Amino acid sequence: MKLFVTGGAGFIGSNFILYWIKNYPNDSIINFDKLTYAGNLENLKSIEKNPKYIFIRGDIADSNLVVSSMAGADIVVHFAAETHVDRSIMGPSEFVKTNVLGTQVMLDAALRNNVKRFHHISTDEVFGSIELETNIKFSEKSPYNPRSPYSATKAGSDHLVRAYSETYELPITITNCSNNFGPYMFPEKFIPLAITNLLEGKKVPIYGDGLYVRDWLHVEDHCRAIDMVLKKGKIAETYLVGGMTQLLPNIEVIKKIIKIMDKDESSIEFVKDRPGHDRKYDVNWSKIKNELGWEPQLSFDIWLEKTIKWYVDNKEWWQRVKKGEYQKYYDMQYGFL
Ligand code: NAD
Ligand code: DAU
Repeated sequence: MKLFVTGGAGFIGSNFILYWIKNYPNDSIINFDKLTYAGNLENLKSIEKNPKYIFIRGDIADSNLVVSSMAGADIVVHFAAETHVDRSIMGPSEFVKTNVLGTQVMLDAALRNNVKRFHHISTDEVFGSIELETNIKFSEKSPYNPRSPYSATKAGSDHLVRAYSETYELPITITNCSNNFGPYMFPEKFIPLAITNLLEGKKVPIYGDGLYVRDWLHVEDHCRAIDMVLKKGKIAETYLVGGMTQLLPNIEVIKKIIKIMDKDESSIEFVKDRPGHDRKYDVNWSKIKNELGWEPQLSFDIWLEKTIKWYVDNKEWWQRVKKGEYQKYYDMQYGFL
């Protein structure tokens, strides 16, 4: 089988490619990635000489290149996107180009290449924000209510994917997952930012009152969920993927990190809140559990310890990533914290 993976040099995409090659060594994979600030081929160093793996540098909005690169692919797994909410607030236009226009180009190319499956990776953020005091959870039936430029563009991409299924009968599936964490996560996002700042002896910025809740999902559990949807999922269906069995506000997440790393809570710095900050995400993942037999393999606490260990053991990786362009963004976002 031949897979065409977009955004495979990013956090989840590179974990997915490593997962797939380990579990299905006879399949071949094309990794199509623009290598934006978030793309890092170092993540894939261990497989770069594998004859079953090919890297193509390109933009998903470049129709000719996408159509020709996808030739012969059986399955498309579409990760490529602009993904950081704070960056989408600073400048939404790249998000519209890649996440909306890029996805439409990908869908056209998939039709023209007659692929057997187009799997779209999306987010629980498209459903908006849940009030803290309710027990509501997002489900496959939740109405769309995106509240940031990032989630609005991901919502747009989901609608396009479904439109291509209805109108052109493109065989699609969608997963909307919650906040991932794990190896190779870019340190602009909350958990790797906190771990690497603590390792550097810096403060950890907590937005607002710190009582925002995310449904943390380890990237390895996520990759297994995608695998199950590709193998056993029903065409035209959406599956929600989440990771938590109990809710944990950001402030408690950081306290756990500080405890595991044997640091001090004086490292916590409350900073200005994110505009339009979604209060809570909480995912009901019973559909993928009941229909496909998926569930997280380990608890949040165990995955968190493993993740911290990975960042401790891979200092060179994140130290290189934190230099250069990222430093400029960090100074703009946090004002030299
Ligand atoms: P990431 O930001 O780490 O990586 C994105 C990758 O896409 C990078 O390699 C980048 O170079 C590539 N890319 C960006 N624009 C491109 C373009 N125009 N053409 C080709 N390649 C391009 O992202 P991630 O965190 O791995 O997220 C992957 C997918 O999962 C995204 O679709 C995101 O919306 C979704 N998602 C992420 C999370 C999360 O917690 N990280 C949660 C839910 C859903
Ligand atoms: O829910 C899935 C989404 O999770 C994905 O679709 C996005 O691509 C991904 O970036 C992520 O979005 P969030 O905005 O939830 O993730 P982030 O890591 O930016 O923030 C997690 C929480 O931590 C959120 O409540 C904001 C807070 N936070 C974040 C940063 C970067 C802080 O308190 N301080 C920070 O410095």
